[in-house]
Amino acid sequence: MSLEIIPTGAPVAAEIRGVDLSQPIGDNVFALIERAYDEHGVIFFRDQHVTPPQQVAFTRRFGDIEFNIFGERWSVAGSPEIVVVSNITEDGKPIGVKRAGENWHSDMCYTARPPRGTMLYAIEIPTLHGLTLGDTEFASAAAAWDALPDSLRHRIEGRRAIFDFSGRKRAFPPSQSEIERNPPVHHPIVRTHPHTGRKCLYAMRDDCTGIDGLEQDEAESLIAALADHIVKPAHIYRHQWRPGDLLMWDNCTVQHRAIQDYDMPQRRLMHRTTMGGAVPA
Ligand code: SIN
Repeated sequence: MSLEIIPTGAPVAAEIRGVDLSQPIGDNVFALIERAYDEHGVIFFRDQHVTPPQQVAFTRRFGDIEFNIFGERWSVAGSPEIVVVSNITEDGKPIGVKRAGENWHSDMCYTARPPRGTMLYAIEIPTLHGLTLGDTEFASAAAAWDALPDSLRHRIEGRRAIFDFSGRKRAFPPSQSEIERNPPVHHPIVRTHPHTGRKCLYAMRDDCTGIDGLEQDEAESLIAALADHIVKPAHIYRHQWRPGDLLMWDNCTVQHRAIQDYDMPQRRLMHRTTMGGAVPA
């Protein structure tokens, strides 16, 4: 079967068919996958059966692996590169990060080199009365830039926002050493995708605590306006998961949030890997 790329029709996300990720992938096929990933911001493969080492090997095709901050606490035995994202408890103890990413965000934007992208492999997906729960929403920050009025574009181009790890409400409060390892960083509000050259907005309510050169009140109201604009319904794709989905998103052009509309005994189990990134430009 040959590779097919099927756009979802939303401004972000395409399904890729005709690829078995448990098998070696040749360079030509990989180049098509990587191009689709850069262009669509989110790509997904249905009906996959990948082992943790296979997921890690596929992630490494996109560059170095980034060890996620949660990996120290919840990784897969034998695969420290994989973080377990799950609401499941065993013997009264959580087996993974629970309620991860329920607010709009771009992963690890508070680091000096935010990751290129993130990959989630769905193992168990919650259902209730035959309905699937635990969707993830993705917003195109590139479509949001395209839709921005010129006056606002001129106001923000060249400006940098302050991203502060300690400024955000988190499902699990970070430790003092995690805070010390992640001092505030200043990233451009208008980013350029390193491979496609496409511009996109980079601002989130919870992680951005200010804008260089602006008074705090003005900065906060501008961040809120941009953050709300990015996640307008016209910019969103909502992914309804099936077990066996392997999905990856681009952390430059896409923001995401997990919909927390389920709880035990509905079980959700995902394996997450993160790709190393670069200083945003
Ligand atoms: C995340 O933000 O990494 C979690 C996304 C999800 O679990 O759907």
